[in-house]
Order: sequence, then structure tokens, then C-alpha cells
Amino acid sequence: MDIRKVGIVGCGLMGSGIAEITARAGYDVVVTEVSEEFLKKGLARIESSTQKAVDKGKSTADERAATLSRIKGSTNMDDLKGCQLVIEAVIENMDEKKRIFGILDATCPPETILASNTSSLSITEIAGATKRPDRVIGLHFFSPVPVMRLLEVVRTIMATDEVTAAGVAYGTAVGKETVVCKDAPGFIVNQLYLPYTLVALRQWERGLATKEDIDKAMMLGLNYPMGPFTLMDFVGLDIHYNACMAIYEETKDPAYFPPPVLKKMVQAGQLGRKTGKGFYDYSNK
Ligand code: 3HC
Repeated sequence: MDIRKVGIVGCGLMGSGIAEITARAGYDVVVTEVSEEFLKKGLARIESSTQKAVDKGKSTADERAATLSRIKGSTNMDDLKGCQLVIEAVIENMDEKKRIFGILDATCPPETILASNTSSLSITEIAGATKRPDRVIGLHFFSPVPVMRLLEVVRTIMATDEVTAAGVAYGTAVGKETVVCKDAPGFIVNQLYLPYTLVALRQWERGLATKEDIDKAMMLGLNYPMGPFTLMDFVGLDIHYNACMAIYEETKDPAYFPPPVLKKMVQAGQLGRKTGKGFYDYSNK
């Protein structure tokens, strides 16, 4: 399967990161958004992230210019027609994912592989919205995409060996280490990670320790780069809450049911770093 042009649907935090690493690896990229405003924001994020890579000595100014020249932004999903692989990275909502996969199925040639970056929804159910379920896989990246080394390649019982191998080859080409995983809620990482953060929340609610000390304990005791509260703020409490609830709805496993405090913080708009307040205050950063 010769992949030369990759489409990305959604230019938010994940979509823009996926567009960046894909273009950096030499692929032509078309990234779509629902409005010019969101597209402009997403492309600006790519410009600043690639500049950070130059500043940190991870790439040169010429490489950055070449990366940016390979990325085309669009608000028209028809522009995804010429892609051999399309990766969807929109909000974690099954109806919206199904709507988008229906459009992609009607727009892209039958051989195009369609992938979702979902962290918690069923790839099998998403694949059911298309007439090519054998060519639908999960490609689950981690935030921040340009930095985190892992890609989970999620294989449904319908996906062919060829399509799964193409997902792995694409991941390797964009510089990630890959793991192949069955389509089960949370895949490998989030099945472990989400319950861990919810236990930390319950420890805090019970008064076992302060959130600062729980974060410190996990950083110094297990060499984690961030403690659970800092990481939840970093990912976004809305995204975190939705991921937990999606897996809870699917499995009814109480390990994924978030304590009410998380829902309250989401309702209050305290979503972490992106809103300036979550478990910690970022208003001065
Ligand atoms: N391109 C290439 N490299 C880049 C880059 C870019 N755009 N931006 C930064 N880098 C490099 C830096 O050069 C640096 O490399 P070095 O260690 O070799 O010098 C490295 O990436 C780290 O960059 P920074 O110095 O800017 O950042 P920190 O050292 O402060 O680390 C962090 C920040 C990487 C976010 C670290 O704190 C971390 O790993 N935190 C945990 C993140 C995590 O767990 N993410 C997963 C979240 S869960 C998820 O996504 C799943 C979802 O489904 C919920």
C-alpha cells in the first residue's frame, strides 16, 4: 500500500500534531477544519510547534519550511479525495465520528484507509458507518503528538492484515514506536492510565494526601514525568472525563466511573491548562 498523501480531519491539539509529524516525515498533508477560524488557529499551532522544534535543535529552519510547505489547510472535505490514508481527530462523540466516516467513505476512493485517533470509542462501531469496514483502523497518538513516542495501532476483527501493516508502516515512517492492539475500550494505555488517575482523585477526596503530594509521589516514586493531577490538567479535564465515561458506558466497569468532582469541574469550565484553571492555576502562565 503506497501512502503518499495523508488527510487529517480536525486541526485541534491532536490533529495539528498529527499533521505536523506526517508532513515532517515527507508526506503531503491535507488537514480540514469546520471553519476558517478553527483552521487558522490549528495552522498557527503547527507553526509555533515546528518553531519550538527548531529552537530546541530537533530540526532546522529549512526542514521547518519544507514541513510547512507540505501542509494544505482546507474547510472542504472534498479536498481529501486524493489521500491514501485519512486520520480523523475530531471530538470524542460517536454520532459525529459516524457522520464524518460516512462522508469520508463517500468522498475517498475505495482503497483509501480510514483511521480514527479516538482514545475510547469503538473502532468497530465507527467502521460500521462505512462500506469498507475492512479498511478502517485506529491510530491512537498521545499528547503532545510531536514528542510522545508511542502509536497504538488498533485492529478490529474486520480489518485486513494489509491494512494493519499499513498502519504500522505509517507509524514507523512518522517516527513512532508502534504497538498493535485489539479494539477494546481504552486499548492498552488508557485501560491502565484512566483508572490510575481516578484512584488518585479518590485518594485526594478521601484526604489521603494533598494533590501536590500525590503528584510529587508519582513523579519521584515512579519517575513519571508528571503526576496525575498535572497530567489531567495537561490533557484537559473535559477530554479526560469524556474518555472515562465512554469506557464506563461501554463496559460498566466502576474503575472508569469518575468521582463527581471531575464532572463538577468540567461543568464549571475548569478544564485545566487550556482554560487557565483546573486542579492547578495557570492564569499567570
Ligand atoms: N518536535 C520535536 N520535538 C519536540 C517538539 C516538537 N515540536 N517540542 C518539544 N520537543 C522535544 C524537546 O526537544 C525535548 O527533547 P529532549 O528531551 O531530547 O530535549 C522533549 O521534546 C520535551 O520537550 P520540552 O522540553 O518542551 O518539555 P518537557 O521536558 O518539559 O516535557 C512533556 C514536557 C513532554 C509534556 C513531559 O512532561 C511529559 O512527557 N509528560 C507526560 C505526557 C503524557 O503522559 N502524555 C500522554 C497523555 S495521555 C494521552 O494523550 C491519551 C489520551 O487519549 C487521553
